[in-house]
Amino acid sequence: MKIVMVGSGYVGLVSGACFADFGHEVVCVDKQESKIAALKRGEIPIFEPGLTELVRSNAAAGRLSFTTDLAGPVSAADAVFIAVGTPSRRGDGFADLSYVYAASREIAQALGRYTVIVTKSTVPVGTGDEVERIVRELRPEAEFAVVSNPEFLREGAAIEDFKRPDRIVIGTEDARAQQVMADVYRPLYLNSAPILNTSRRTAELTKYAANAFLATKITFINEMADLCEQVGANVQDVARGMGLDNRIGGKFLHAGPGYGGSCFPKDTLALIKTAQDYGTPARIVETVAAVNEQRKRAMGRKVVAACGGSVRGKTVAVLGLTFKPNTDDMRDSPSLSIITALQDAGATIRAFDPEGMEQAKAVLPGAVTYCDNAYECVEDADAAVIVTEWNIFRALDLDRVRTLMRSPILIDLRNIYRGEQVREKGFVYADIGRGISDPVSSHAIDAA
Ligand code: UDX
Repeated sequence: MKIVMVGSGYVGLVSGACFADFGHEVVCVDKQESKIAALKRGEIPIFEPGLTELVRSNAAAGRLSFTTDLAGPVSAADAVFIAVGTPSRRGDGFADLSYVYAASREIAQALGRYTVIVTKSTVPVGTGDEVERIVRELRPEAEFAVVSNPEFLREGAAIEDFKRPDRIVIGTEDARAQQVMADVYRPLYLNSAPILNTSRRTAELTKYAANAFLATKITFINEMADLCEQVGANVQDVARGMGLDNRIGGKFLHAGPGYGGSCFPKDTLALIKTAQDYGTPARIVETVAAVNEQRKRAMGRKVVAACGGSVRGKTVAVLGLTFKPNTDDMRDSPSLSIITALQDAGATIRAFDPEGMEQAKAVLPGAVTYCDNAYECVEDADAAVIVTEWNIFRALDLDRVRTLMRSPILIDLRNIYRGEQVREKGFVYADIGRGISDPVSSHAIDAA
């Protein structure tokens, strides 16, 4: 199959490399010349485990190529995937579809034989209809179909998610397009990945519903964590007790500083906006988004409380900046709110992240001292906060950390340590929802 990925960002690149690895002939297109030039040299602009090797080996095998020229490859393609960005529109939170529509117009002009145009970017319900209208208007005689095929890739595990998906959702009622999509995904039939054929609008909504539900699950357990702190219960045991019920499932029940990233914050807002526009407000999702925002701010206050009520003039070491491990992505990371809150409260910040510091420098306001490793970061600090659960923070030499710090206060926002183990080493230790830390709930803080 000849496949074109329009947009060589995170989703386009991972999907393109994986399709090439299945044996398809893939061309990744992007407008940014420097990005394409780098990709041709085998340099990958994002951090994603396994991606560099996958891109290089498939490029060397001649199955994966990169270009800024959209028209040539599209004219010969069986399927053209639109994988451009859909950022939150400033002001209303609605997904900004201008890149999707611009790509649709360019694809329309270039169409040759029968082509399936696939929206892989996360797009609100009805976007596929608009893409179809745009293409039909520009090329009334062209043979094409527009299909929704949402991605469910987690950063840091994207290749695994692509190759061993829980399901593949294909939204089209066009039989010929269904056949092309079946051929595109045929290599996955061996792994018996369930393929769900739905209408286009159903597929578009399924993506938002899935992400909003996961965001809800996380927010639910985060609220339970606050309650655990008040009543002296342990949220990890509560989560386990809940998760062993098959109807609930144990995944996405880790309490923490609130969800971030490129998807959950953006997609929940877009779903809220769509639901409002259609006159059926998604009240649960509205609450989830609001509670999560409050929570991220509240984490700064939690650190202040653990430091005895003030961080003015103190140095706080922040371990982990990215929104989760195995990525360099800083988008909507809780670290942004936490660091801003601590700086506003008068703290000096030292920070270390294994992959995210370059991205962090671009988005973090105020002065931050960036360090080369965790030990350098905690040197002379009055408190240390674990914001991201990178593996290298899981087995720190706590004796060494304690001697390096000015005062041994550890705030573990990911519950990666056991309280007894850390307190035994002489630390003041605060965690999330394990019954012993200072009872500082998001709501109490927000009301304060
Ligand atoms: C998510 C979806 O999982 C993926 O299917 C979708 O296509 C894109 O959005 P991603 O944003 O890469 O993927 O990360 P994910 O692993 O889902 O984590 C999102 C956020 O939730 C992170 O901030 C993470 O720390 C947080 N989280 C996740 C929790 O706080 N607790 C959990 O139990 C799980």
